[in-house]
Amino acid sequence: MIVITGATGALNGTTVDHLLERVPAGQIGVSVRDVAQAQRFADRGVRVRRGSYDDPAALLDSFEGADQVLLVSPNDPHADQPAQLRVAVETAVKAGARRILYTSHQHIGPDSPFLPARHHAAAEAVLADSGVAWTSLRNGFYAHSLDWLLGPWAETGEIAAPADGPVSWTERAEEGEAAAVILADQESGRRSFDGPVTLTARATPTFAAVAAIASELTGRDIRRAVMDDDDWVAAQVAHGSPEPMARMLLGFFQAARAGRFAETSPLLGELLGREPRTVRDLLADRVAAS
Ligand SMILES: NC(=O)c1ccc[n+]([C@@H]2O[C@H](COP(=O)([O-])OP(=O)(O)OC[C@H]3O[C@@H](n4cnc5c(N)ncnc54)[C@H](OP(=O)(O)O)[C@@H]3O)[C@@H](O)[C@H]2O)c1
Repeated sequence: MIVITGATGALNGTTVDHLLERVPAGQIGVSVRDVAQAQRFADRGVRVRRGSYDDPAALLDSFEGADQVLLVSPNDPHADQPAQLRVAVETAVKAGARRILYTSHQHIGPDSPFLPARHHAAAEAVLADSGVAWTSLRNGFYAHSLDWLLGPWAETGEIAAPADGPVSWTERAEEGEAAAVILADQESGRRSFDGPVTLTARATPTFAAVAAIASELTGRDIRRAVMDDDDWVAAQVAHGSPEPMARMLLGFFQAARAGRFAETSPLLGELLGREPRTVRDLLADRVAAS
């Protein structure tokens, strides 16, 4: 059986949807904090059990009989996320899983200015120590994050943000689909993916390149304005963002301009059987909808 956590969320919910096209529903379980939110999976014959990284007993019950467990990276900014993930890995081991998968990120590192990258580094260290096979899905940065990272460029004609760098922006739904292919292939024994695997789109545009794409698609002159880091944080706070959140996001820009999100891999396209969507595709959708 394959058990998937975070299935009531966007990424792993997509993974379950795609897995249902490849594996009989009776071989799939979801471990979710609110079973009512997973009714659509129960209706299709998926085993739905309550599980939370904050409740090891329930989590263990939800992992019962699992060969593979896919752990979502937790996202509560007020929780001790590395501790939650450690509980999740230990519980999967206790349940007898033969492989643990984890939704990581394209850039990880204990010295990264980007907090989630430090959390993912801690998570991968726990996986490496777990004693069972593991697969870390190093997903590209969600392309739809650009909707707010770029600011209101369509109104102002300007992308005003701190200095950035190349980023392999990737569509979340395609990352979820690729995870389903990996899970299904490993379940059937067709092939296995050991340790970190990078799942990204191939293009790595900077914000200047994004401005050029936006100019081309709109027929307007969309400019790139580089803001001072502290001025940008102050502007975010003035627009209602809590300062710790704004500083955490500043870490994204600091990591990007150090080239830490520049890695790409052909694997996502190979798993999907098509070229992954790019920032150009995303912006074209946005422009068409406006
Ligand atoms: N690659 C990127 O650019 C990027 C960007 C942002 C975030 N992420 C990471 O990718 C993950 C998945 O993204 P997403 O868009 O699918 O987020 P999402 O829609 O918010 O889903 C997150 C899922 O994690 C579950 N979860 C959170 N804390 C948990 C806990 N303590 N125990 C058990 N389950 C828990 C949530 O459960 P409920 O449904 O009950 O809330 C939810 O199903 C995020 O959690 C985050 O770590 C990646």
